[in-house]
Amino acid sequence: MQYVTLNTGAKMPMMGFGVFRVPDLKECEDSVYEAIKIGYRLIDTATAYHNEEAVGAAVRRAIADGICTREDLFVTSKLWVTDMSNEKTAAAGIDASLERLDIGYLDLYLEHQACNDYFAAWRAMTDAYKAGKLRAIGVSNFYPNILTNFCECVEVVPAVNQVELHPYYTQEHGLMAEESAMDVMHRYGVVPEAWAPLGGGRYNPFEEPDFLAIAKAHGKTVGQVLLRWNIQRGVVVIPKSTHVERIRENFDVWDFELTPEEMVTISSHDMGYSGSRAKHFEPSFVRMVLGKE
Ligand SMILES: NC(=O)c1ccc[n+]([C@@H]2O[C@H](COP(=O)([O-])OP(=O)(O)OC[C@H]3O[C@@H](n4cnc5c(N)ncnc54)[C@H](OP(=O)(O)O)[C@@H]3O)[C@@H](O)[C@H]2O)c1
Repeated sequence: MQYVTLNTGAKMPMMGFGVFRVPDLKECEDSVYEAIKIGYRLIDTATAYHNEEAVGAAVRRAIADGICTREDLFVTSKLWVTDMSNEKTAAAGIDASLERLDIGYLDLYLEHQACNDYFAAWRAMTDAYKAGKLRAIGVSNFYPNILTNFCECVEVVPAVNQVELHPYYTQEHGLMAEESAMDVMHRYGVVPEAWAPLGGGRYNPFEEPDFLAIAKAHGKTVGQVLLRWNIQRGVVVIPKSTHVERIRENFDVWDFELTPEEMVTISSHDMGYSGSRAKHFEPSFVRMVLGKE
């Protein structure tokens, strides 16, 4: 396992396990427990995934079974936009996450979207960070102009920005702007974390000839190559699967290294924009996230 150091000084594992779209609580708990058994130490959930209870239960079970300690784990959750109307609602949202997880504290808590009053919500997150309830605080889906304004204006700079990051959307090139999302994160010392590192089921990287050739050269799978590519460029990955063989496969990326040429070949598939439904610059997407449309 490799780790990256956050602006808090804490070490964050570069490989984690995501649980988006795992609404069945038993399936979620069992998948997280299996993932911890396999060696994952970072788990990524959110208020909006409605499975924080299951993640907390899996963590408690793994600790009770002696697989790891609480300190070995790095658990992340996120504040949903409906809790981000003001400091009071945000503080209540944070406490509700902590209560549902029931694992003492959170290693990282993110604002899920740059929607509603994200400055007021950040003040509540800063208070919870100072109180030790949240060991680090960060953001998600904060695009370059929004992240720049935010980092320049807040008291505590976000430790992490979790955004869509895979070979079809590398975020290495600015869209009609000089600085890309990756440039801005590097400038402010914000660690990039990839959601949909395998394409999230919205793309089909698994049959891409370039990726298949690189995978064959290393005796690895396309999924392992895509995860390794992000890790090698300093991006934390949190692939999701509810199949134990894939959970194991996705974690097995520590015994090979992509060459600089292979890194460039993989990055050359960048489309420069998100091909998913989550188009954060679209006004209709913002209204949908806010529940107005
Ligand atoms: N902050 C945000 O706005 C945001 C948005 C989206 C996601 N996230 C986080 O990021 C995590 C990962 O993103 P994601 O779940 O959208 O996408 P992902 O991890 O890129 O892809 C998951 C999909 O790939 C399949 N899969 C997993 N491993 C595979 C393998 N080795 N070979 C072939 N297929 C494989 C999974 O199917 P099976 O489960 O059937 O194996 C699932 O359909 C989420 O779980 C969540 O924690 C955050």
